[in-house]
Amino acid sequence: MTRKILVTSALPYANGAIHLGHLVEYIQTDIWVRFQKMRGHECWYVCADDTHGTPIMLRAEKEGIAPEELIARVHQEHTRDFAGFHVAFDNYYSTHSAETRFYSEDIYKKLQAAGLVEVRSIEQFYDPVKQMFLPDRFIKGECPKCGAKDQYGDSCEACGAAYAPTELKNPYSAVSGATPELRSSDHYFFKLSDPRCQAFLRAWTQEGGHVPTEAANKLQEWLGHPGENKLTDWDISRDAPYFGFEIPGAPGKYFYVWLDAPIGYMGSFKNLCAKTGMNFDDWWGKDSKAELYHFIGKDILYFHALFWPAELEHAGYRTPTGVLPHGFLTVDGAKMSKSRGTFITAESYLKEGLNTEWLRYYFAAKLNGTMEDIDLNLSDFVARVNSDLVGKYINIASRCAGFLAKFFDGKLVFDDAKPLTDAAAASGLAVAGDYEARNFSQALREIMALADRINGEIAVAEPWKLAKDEAKRTELHDICSRALHGFYVLSILLRPVLPALTSRVARELFGMERDFTWADLGALPGKINAYQHLMQRVEAKQIDALVAANIESLAPAPAPTAHSPQRHAEHQQQAETKTQEKKEWENFISIDDFAKVDLRIARIANAEHVEGAAKLLKLTLDLGAETRTVFAGIKSAYDPATLVGRLTVMVANLAPRKMKFGMSEGMVLAASDPEGKTAGLFLLSPDSGATPGMQVK
Ligand code: MSP
Ligand code: ZN
Repeated sequence: MTRKILVTSALPYANGAIHLGHLVEYIQTDIWVRFQKMRGHECWYVCADDTHGTPIMLRAEKEGIAPEELIARVHQEHTRDFAGFHVAFDNYYSTHSAETRFYSEDIYKKLQAAGLVEVRSIEQFYDPVKQMFLPDRFIKGECPKCGAKDQYGDSCEACGAAYAPTELKNPYSAVSGATPELRSSDHYFFKLSDPRCQAFLRAWTQEGGHVPTEAANKLQEWLGHPGENKLTDWDISRDAPYFGFEIPGAPGKYFYVWLDAPIGYMGSFKNLCAKTGMNFDDWWGKDSKAELYHFIGKDILYFHALFWPAELEHAGYRTPTGVLPHGFLTVDGAKMSKSRGTFITAESYLKEGLNTEWLRYYFAAKLNGTMEDIDLNLSDFVARVNSDLVGKYINIASRCAGFLAKFFDGKLVFDDAKPLTDAAAASGLAVAGDYEARNFSQALREIMALADRINGEIAVAEPWKLAKDEAKRTELHDICSRALHGFYVLSILLRPVLPALTSRVARELFGMERDFTWADLGALPGKINAYQHLMQRVEAKQIDALVAANIESLAPAPAPTAHSPQRHAEHQQQAETKTQEKKEWENFISIDDFAKVDLRIARIANAEHVEGAAKLLKLTLDLGAETRTVFAGIKSAYDPATLVGRLTVMVANLAPRKMKFGMSEGMVLAASDPEGKTAGLFLLSPDSGATPGMQVK
């Protein structure tokens, strides 16, 4: 029976680069989708950029461009990265679209009609300088529990405590530095505490296998015991200024990014319907017979397994068949780190020219369908790819294909064809079960066991010896045919993981005019073309270069522009996963880390105002042997004329940064009070005697 299957991956934020952590998810989903398609099912894979929210608005502002321009650029970057890793969406769209707006308004209105939306006035921190309400992650201060400084408004990285931003001591705005004020304003809430939502979610999360058991247990904790009402209403509105969709009938109020983000799945699919002529309601209507799966990271389970199904249910849409969470990526056993170079971007991997199917294979070998974290061990990566892919799989063809071409005109012969196809079908059955269950590591174990068997047969028959003996042609023909049949079977089974390589195998080696399907397991290849080199070994030095390319020598002030700020801002339930996630720098650095910073004495040769820049001065710095241009945010504290001629300290090896007004080739050092109690900036000066170019250490 042909299944109708709609699959999504979480929508990546449009303000950050795709990194290897993201790719765990997109590769996992892509493998599953490719498997379903190979089996002949009608399967569609949609995704989009998640474009709304405060961080994206502020990031665009900082770059001096409109948010639309930022999201258009990032859309291109994301599309390029996904293509590079063979992640083949049927549609990759944007939440900033007419379709997503339509379904956001539609769902909102239906929830409102069902009595599930409530307006309430809440008190929140407001930045009087920036004139906006501040999301929790844009408020910093001292932890109310342990007193650690510079903690975010929702939880403390030092002691792990979760709290409300109003509990912070000496709070300040991470956007402007100003002391925030409490102000009240009307917010719109989705009434998750309503008995209808509670009853629905209890049943939905615990029955019908919509979420794997591990996740169902987590959800049970969040829901509380029957009779307990632990779910709180969800704040779905934000006040202007906000980049998003304005709420119908509520001027100045916008849908919170997490309201329209999952609706982006519908928006992307609707957009695909327009291209293919499919009927949207067949897939999303209440009575849809299609399957719907959301692949997600464990950090966003709350949104996908509670808010989302509750919204869909009460707005009259179908609910997901499955919400499938995976774990987080670690590199060499630790959280990805910018200073160690293990926060590896997709772009850098592509630029370094590494084969992206190596990574697909490695991730597949680690993915088992659970929420366990996945470790990319860099030396294991090299060993595994070389031993499995090159040493076991490719080796079969490279050792035997040449003899078929040389002595038998590429023709394959089989005496006992039936047992061969039976064996292929049998391994196909086991492997299919593993793919279906997202237990890719088990699938690859079975596949490699098969490769071991074939290699074992080759080792026993020793075709390279047979080839030297004219009298042994039949035996040679037999072993090489069997080996190539084995290679054919392995290639079919590996196609979901290695789409590009196996496409070449099908077309170039087996002379087919299409890619493999699962049904090809029942056939025997009759002929091969001349063997062409298929895959290179990974070299450890390539991995070293990749890591080196990702080392950020100096972590810039952790401005809250990365992907984490808007995530689960209000959900204390998620504090445990949250704290794991956001700590991208370490508390201590080694002396070696410090030595990477090249600090130099510089003479300010010239200082001038920059037209149109509110905070910047343009400095020309004399380093003795060379001069540099640096844009420094010190306009509020210094008159350029008073700076000319004085000495200061600069970071000389900071990667040049393209700014709106030109290239900035370093950074001057100035002191400031992070709590803003003392206003002003204080440029550093060396004691007298220092001269331009001297090293500071
Ligand atoms: N925009 C939201 C999702 C909205 S879905 C309606 C978001 N974006 S994200 O860019 O931060 O993450 C996208 C997906 O990548 C999430 O499922 C997230 O769990 C996953 N990953 C991000 N970093 C990851 C790792 N380090 N490891 C594994 N998956 C990770 O969340
Ligand atoms: Zn603390």
